[in-house]
Amino acid sequence: MDWGLKNRISRIIKPHDNKTVMLAIDHGYFLGPTEKLENPRKTVQQLEKFCDSIMLTRGILRTSVNAKFITPIVLRISGGSSIISNDLSNEKITTSIKESIRLNASAVAMSIFVGAKYEHNSLINLGNIVNEAEEYGMPVLAVTAVGKELEKRDARYLSLSCRIAAEFGAHIVKTYYCDNFEKVVNSCSIPIIIAGGPKINEQKALQLTYDAINAGASGVDMGRNIWQSDHPIEMIKAVRSIVHGNKSANEAYKNFKLAIQD
Ligand code: 5RP
Repeated sequence: MDWGLKNRISRIIKPHDNKTVMLAIDHGYFLGPTEKLENPRKTVQQLEKFCDSIMLTRGILRTSVNAKFITPIVLRISGGSSIISNDLSNEKITTSIKESIRLNASAVAMSIFVGAKYEHNSLINLGNIVNEAEEYGMPVLAVTAVGKELEKRDARYLSLSCRIAAEFGAHIVKTYYCDNFEKVVNSCSIPIIIAGGPKINEQKALQLTYDAINAGASGVDMGRNIWQSDHPIEMIKAVRSIVHGNKSANEAYKNFKLAIQD
């Protein structure tokens, strides 16, 4: 693997344990001003010191993040449909690799929509972006998006999506946790990180994190279950203690509860 590519990946997936805590705040690219992410500048200021990287769009990077910021950036570069459109899978590449390099991104992220109407376009976008990004040693994170159809989150479907992302040359894949998650991990040759999905209670979100790590995930790319918590700092610390600190879900939740009492 090219030195630059390796170096960028190691800014995201920490070499001491091959794990990562990525904070996702890119939701506005199709959801608009998502609840509790109305002010991304505040979210970044509050949480950046507790994550290994932060995933966001160029608009929010430019307007809401200080350029002296040193946390690695994972830049979302696909989009083109909003939550009120008929088909969320109709995405194109919206931010170039040249722009990603100008913004000093450590990786670029784009969605693929396996089984959806625009599956073909999204997969060809992935192949083309991998071709272009590899010329500059830029890693590509493929997001296995499920659109509004959350029922697609089973091991059969997610294995299919993750494996296709790996076959197309993505360097990291983001997916959802599901029952029999080992099947997803074992049939995918690149590191898998999990999204948190819609907000659930903290105990359940920590259990989900633990179960994913235990089944072989390389970490999380989590958003709503952190910044929609009433205690986002304590929550990201608890997630981190599982991903990097080998804590069990119960220990992490116990520490979370103790911390919010202080
Ligand atoms: C949307 C995304 C989000 O970043 C992703 O869903 C992670 O956030 P959350 O933990 O809130 O699900 O890529 O396509």
